[in-house]
Amino acid sequence: MNLSIQLAPKHHQGLLLANPVMTAAGTFGYGTEYNHIFDIQKLGAIVCKGTTLEPRDGNPQPRLAETACGLLNSIGLQNIGVKALIRDKAPIWAIWRVLVIVNIAGETIDDYAKVADELDGVAGISAVEVNISCPNIKAGGAEFGANPDSAARVVAAVKAATSLPVLVKLTPNTSDIAKVAVAVAEAGADAISLINTVKGMAIDIARRRPLLGDITGGLSGPAIKPVALYMVYEVAGAVGVPVVGCGGITTASDAIEFIMAGASAIQVGTASFNNPRAPLDILEGIEEFMQKEGIENLTDLIGAARR
Ligand SMILES: Cc1cc2nc3c(=O)[nH]c(=O)nc-3n(C[C@H](O)[C@H](O)[C@H](O)COP(=O)(O)O)c2cc1C
Repeated sequence: MNLSIQLAPKHHQGLLLANPVMTAAGTFGYGTEYNHIFDIQKLGAIVCKGTTLEPRDGNPQPRLAETACGLLNSIGLQNIGVKALIRDKAPIWAIWRVLVIVNIAGETIDDYAKVADELDGVAGISAVEVNISCPNIKAGGAEFGANPDSAARVVAAVKAATSLPVLVKLTPNTSDIAKVAVAVAEAGADAISLINTVKGMAIDIARRRPLLGDITGGLSGPAIKPVALYMVYEVAGAVGVPVVGCGGITTASDAIEFIMAGASAIQVGTASFNNPRAPLDILEGIEEFMQKEGIENLTDLIGAARR
């Protein structure tokens, strides 16, 4: 069986994954944290925690709240900053078989471009994923991704700053996600990933106060799967670049739904908190499904529900 997938067909280097299973940014650390739990080298790609120009402490606690079928988070992009990432993490990744994609964020367009520029040519980094969809920071993040024009401006600046393949991660918190997708594809995105979390909140009735320290957060997990699947279906029908599906994927059959909706690859996020082996279980489940159905090439499944 052939599970490999080219995620950046228009890029001179390309981004060839051995299989379609990736981890979602912010839910799998730098990969190193999961190394002892299962053979992470078997995955298609690891997307590391959102990285900014300077280190960030993130938002005030509490930053996590469980909901029915989901998780609210308001981490606020706590991270070590791009310089420490290049110094301490990239050399580890450089000897890995699995590809590592660095998720990047910023408060200004210039921030994004500077982070992308720093990462250009660093051994161990195969691509960047531009997070224009974080709902948990005061400036930048989802503000850029909510609007086609500002989204395109970020992507154009990142493309000009790096020779790496560029994935762009979209927010569901916008009126027409397909319009944003078309704008970022025209601005040069090599692939589009979606969705980031859905903005939400919870209230602690004993304290009569919002439960999260930052008041609002982003909802993830099985609760958002139907929303994410619908948006992947919409976007895959609107753009000519590969789409990476994300949002509530917990089992292999969830992943196959996204692939049939038009996703070329998928990301596993919150599921890893319940079951740290979830990405590998999902990969093995996809292989089993293909075997059972007599499918030789993963590409035969992509968009199967659209035909
Ligand atoms: C604790 C936490 C931290 C996250 N951090 C990031 C991040 O740094 N960058 C990003 O693009 N997405 C981040 N996300 C969003 C996930 O990558 C993913 O898009 C979202 O959670 C939906 O997928 P899921 O339902 O499988 O978790 C984070 C999600 C969670 C739960």
